[in-house]
Amino acid sequence: MAGYILALDQGTTSSRAILYDDHARPIKMVQQPTTLQTPRAGFVEQDAQQIWQTQISCAHDVINRAGLLATDVTSIAITNQRESIVMWDKQTGKPLAPAIIWQDRRTANYCKTLAAESATNSMNDPVHQSIDSVNMAHEVQRITGLRLDPYFSASKIAWLLENNPKLSVRASRGEIAVGTIDSWLIYKLTGGEHVIDVTNASRTLLFDIHKLAWSETLCDRFAIPMHILPKVLPSDGDFGKTKKGLFAKQIPIQAVLGDQQAALFGQGCLDAGMAKNTYGTGCFMLMNIGQQPKLSEHKLLTTIAWQRKTSPIRPDNLSFDQIVQSGKRMLQPPKKEVTYALEGSVFMAGAIIQWLRDNLGMIQQSSDVEDLARQVNSSEDVVLLPAFTGLGAPYWRSDISASITGMSRGTTKAHIARAALEAVAYQTYDVLIAMQKDSPHPLTELRVDGGAANNDLLMQFQADLLGVPVLRPRDTEITAKGAALLAGLKTGLYDESTMKASWQVDRVFEPSMSADTRERHLAKWQQAIKRSLMPL
Ligand code: G3P
Repeated sequence: MAGYILALDQGTTSSRAILYDDHARPIKMVQQPTTLQTPRAGFVEQDAQQIWQTQISCAHDVINRAGLLATDVTSIAITNQRESIVMWDKQTGKPLAPAIIWQDRRTANYCKTLAAESATNSMNDPVHQSIDSVNMAHEVQRITGLRLDPYFSASKIAWLLENNPKLSVRASRGEIAVGTIDSWLIYKLTGGEHVIDVTNASRTLLFDIHKLAWSETLCDRFAIPMHILPKVLPSDGDFGKTKKGLFAKQIPIQAVLGDQQAALFGQGCLDAGMAKNTYGTGCFMLMNIGQQPKLSEHKLLTTIAWQRKTSPIRPDNLSFDQIVQSGKRMLQPPKKEVTYALEGSVFMAGAIIQWLRDNLGMIQQSSDVEDLARQVNSSEDVVLLPAFTGLGAPYWRSDISASITGMSRGTTKAHIARAALEAVAYQTYDVLIAMQKDSPHPLTELRVDGGAANNDLLMQFQADLLGVPVLRPRDTEITAKGAALLAGLKTGLYDESTMKASWQVDRVFEPSMSADTRERHLAKWQQAIKRSLMPL
């Protein structure tokens, strides 16, 4: 079987399109930046039309530049920044407000009030166990696996409806649609399908990850009419075909995954206990935990890794590697199998480096940070606490702000650059500690990807802190590949051996730091965290 998969990767700061051949090899990539707007403190928005325009323009360009025709493309796969929302007019398809991006914190107080209200009601009326009287935060975690935090979509949708009475009226009349970025792109690509993949749905704070359906209780609590939400499909579901005239042929959309879930799949983390960390705008560590949605007791998230409509069944309970080695085939009876993951979401990673570049003008381009940081042997006492949009896992504090501490008269740009890289690794360490406590599977290695995974200094420091080998694959653009692989497996363009061959190690970073030095580094970070979490 021959053909190409067109993967659309809509991230926080850019849209990309990558073509994969019938061996899942990337043959061409086109990228366009997108603009983040911060009109008020805590607000992070994007123009939804720009998201669409850049994405479709990359899709057309990549086919042209590869010297192919749209008729050579057998499927489209989509992967996207998660939690961000778009609201649009069902008739005209026009966005009704700027997209509210996952980093947006405008609903921090709203979330706090919801949690406080329910706690007060619970004290006053402990007998009635309605959603109002049980602790809302617990109820949210029980149903969705997530936390009551402005990061997720629900409070963003609620904010739009609450602050635009006209929208609220139109919503009740069924005139508007809302969705995450995958929904928005599919709507535009197909000319009207209003659907969402299950991994993106699992990031909205409105989706019951056990029943695999929108939660009536939570929609009620956030005052979001259920009929404005999209229909939920498995990650390898049939999402519709591109509308006539968009490409030379109508191309089916055959796989959709949130970007972090796509990276987990693309990293080949198909067995429980395998984990990856993606160093993008933020940093997201996900561990495959198998078919049971275990809830975190250490402030991590439980999320849907993927649901495969035609999920293959492993013969004789073999692991994925054993199947490939034994030459056995997966058994094929269709089964809607769900795989879950534990996730630690860190809000600022590559974005810290962008801040050094764009706000401080310290470097010309992000990749310059490594050379600058290498000008010194250590950050000395400098700690950069990157709480620019609060802190995510495992702290979940949207109320604290970023700081640089420990500077002296001798502090240079190089110390700050080094402290910035270290901050990325420290945050990942904190997530790993929580994950080790939650998961029955000890982490024996960490697979890494995303732009900053190419930074050797950071990766070595990461391995030193974690105490496990850090494995960087040759292709660190794993997100798009994960979505493409899923589409190819669904259609039969790829099989398990394609999947196996598509992951090759570039470099293994072995931990080599002495225990003393490691302890000193960690103590410095923990001190800074403690100071920032203290009430003023
Ligand atoms: O949860 C947010 C995440 O999906 C954003 O990913 O790659 O755009 O930083 P990225």
